[in-house]
Amino acid sequence: MKALLLAGGLGTRLRPLTEELPKPLTPVCNRPWLEHLMVHLRDQGIREFVLAVKTHADKIQSYFQDGQALGVHIEYAYEQSLLGTAGAIKNAEHLLDGRFLVFNADIVHLVNVAPLLEFHERHGGLVTIGLTEVNDPSHYGVVELTKQGEILRFVEKPKREEAPSNHINAGIYVMETSVLDWIPKNRETSIERETFPALIDHCVGVYGMPVDGYWLDMGTVDRYMQLHDDIFAKRAPVHMSYRMTREGVWMGKEARVHPGATIIPPVVIGEGAVVQSGCTVGPYVSLGDHAVVRAGASVSRSIVWPGATVGSEELVSDAVVGRTFVTQACRPAPSAAVREQETANEREPVMQR
Ligand code: GTP
Repeated sequence: MKALLLAGGLGTRLRPLTEELPKPLTPVCNRPWLEHLMVHLRDQGIREFVLAVKTHADKIQSYFQDGQALGVHIEYAYEQSLLGTAGAIKNAEHLLDGRFLVFNADIVHLVNVAPLLEFHERHGGLVTIGLTEVNDPSHYGVVELTKQGEILRFVEKPKREEAPSNHINAGIYVMETSVLDWIPKNRETSIERETFPALIDHCVGVYGMPVDGYWLDMGTVDRYMQLHDDIFAKRAPVHMSYRMTREGVWMGKEARVHPGATIIPPVVIGEGAVVQSGCTVGPYVSLGDHAVVRAGASVSRSIVWPGATVGSEELVSDAVVGRTFVTQACRPAPSAAVREQETANEREPVMQR
């Protein structure tokens, strides 16, 4: 079975990060998010991928190429202009056959696909939408379901007390190719706002199945940073690419930390990264491959992108540092539990060689 990954959007909410790299290449603990997703699916036996690309398509293709390095096979469907989430699926028609999976490439949800496929087979619909449960559905399109799991309607951003359920579209679908007959060619169309409502109106079998586990739409800077906090706190099950050298400290190959620097876990230090003397790095820091923290600088609760530099004596906190930008998060202050853990960590700084 093929998985189609929608990876061509503008990522406007994630600017300025997406001016340097497209959203699918946004590093999450030093690996592009899309790589985490493909590896997760590969490990469940999915080895055929179609990437629907437009924005920064060249960067995405030059990173993943034909997928051989990841042990998968990747084909690309290019758009001349942005076609929206449904238009992008239609544009990949020539690469799809039979039943296929679709994933929004910016959704962090490492779902187990077997139960979703089994549900789809059992109900025999055209589409099964993976659903996730949220506490406050008032910001989302909420689904109303029958007991058998058929979707009756979507209610856009309902008042909390009027929401028919707490289930929202998780951005993961199982589809039959006949769905493509419902999508017009060469025109911008939204799968959520146009195709699904039309299919539901015609009662052709759109089902929803709640899928378990951590879910996050990585569409904003704050949520991108939230994701890292959740990974460090082990709430989000993202695999670290490096070995753990001490509790809460993951180091890539050839990283160099000066003996006079202080590392406060949890911290990820990328391959070939350099931490110079007198620096403090951590807690809750992901330092990209070949990033440099110059003498006397201090970095906490931040993500430093591959190849970026923190200048000497600089203080960086709650920020994303790229090669061409620094962006400050507006996320809430850490909770009492996090502060307590941070203070405990600070009491026992770990010296790295
Ligand atoms: P914002 O501009 O911040 O809303 O981001 P976005 O448009 O990149 O993401 P959005 O949440 O709207 O889209 C969900 C997923 O669909 C993301 O993975 C996008 O990359 C992808 N996507 C959105 N529009 C298109 C499109 O026109 N073509 C393709 N190929 N993918 C798209």
